[in-house]
Amino acid sequence: MKQEIEKIQSDALAAISAAGDEKSLDDARVAFLGKKGQLTVASAGMRDLSKEDKPVVGQLLNVARQAITSAIDEKQAALEAEADKKSVAGIDLTLPARGLPVGGLHPITQVKDSAIQTLRRMGFALAEGPEIETEFHCFDALNTPEDHPARNEKDTFYFDSGKLLRTHTSSVQIRTMEKVTPPVRIIAPGSAYRRDEIDATHLSVFNQLEGLYVDKDVQLGDLKGTLEFFLQSMFGKDTEVRFRPHFFPFTEPSFEIDIKLHAKGQKPKWIEIAGCGMVDPAVFESLCETRGDDVFSPDKVTGFAFGMGIDRLAMIKWGIKDIRLLIENDVRFLKQFA
Ligand code: PHE
Repeated sequence: MKQEIEKIQSDALAAISAAGDEKSLDDARVAFLGKKGQLTVASAGMRDLSKEDKPVVGQLLNVARQAITSAIDEKQAALEAEADKKSVAGIDLTLPARGLPVGGLHPITQVKDSAIQTLRRMGFALAEGPEIETEFHCFDALNTPEDHPARNEKDTFYFDSGKLLRTHTSSVQIRTMEKVTPPVRIIAPGSAYRRDEIDATHLSVFNQLEGLYVDKDVQLGDLKGTLEFFLQSMFGKDTEVRFRPHFFPFTEPSFEIDIKLHAKGQKPKWIEIAGCGMVDPAVFESLCETRGDDVFSPDKVTGFAFGMGIDRLAMIKWGIKDIRLLIENDVRFLKQFA
């Protein structure tokens, strides 16, 4: 029996070491360790042995099984390593890897981020308000009378509830001043909605950036200086900025701001990018009523506000001729900003 077991073991080890691929290795495993394999059959012979011989032979069988099993494992690992090596043969592993494609920020996000960064450096903190607004915060509190065209259903998206999609971010001025006490120095970037026909310069959803500064003795010079500095840091030191008298219900005096655009191959032209003005005392008065105190009394504070189109800023910065390109998400267009 002993000799028989030793013979099986050495036959098995020979077959394993001769196996050149996984298939013949598996054949060897079945031939020796399988249900009808030689070692399994030999183990069955234990039954006929005497009580004294059983442990001795059992021990031998165990040793043989272990030796064969570990030889199979080793061979298996060796075959796998060899296959790995073959699969990378001829490949230069020292070559730099091919880069994964990385995304980039949308041009609107880029302009918005850099505007926020500049204004925060000037001391403006971020504020926000809801896009679904009440008529009160969008219009009444901003001194906009019932018969103002912006309040027309043709121009604004109303809900059945009477609420509306805010037509400008100026509602955040009111939302902020309802909560805090002066001085106030905030900016509020966000979406605004108008029932505009979509064309090369209009979208029904667009992006604005609102600003508000309220304190003792804030003057028109502060407004001009702040916005000129801001626009020159966005578009370059030599950027020409123009304040054109205008009307907004919630500022007095009011202006539209133009900057001069020098597009390649075109005559320089003025482009409107923002509205601004000194906060109308009527806005402060209504606020005092809502708040039930007089910390924002027009006798105590003055302020300026501005609202600009972020989409416009992006169009000017990169000379984009059609605003619709900004929402189509065509990668061929967006790639150049990544
Ligand atoms: N809300 C105005 C608009 O959307 C812009 C503006 C903001 C004007 C603040 C004056 C002050 O056109």
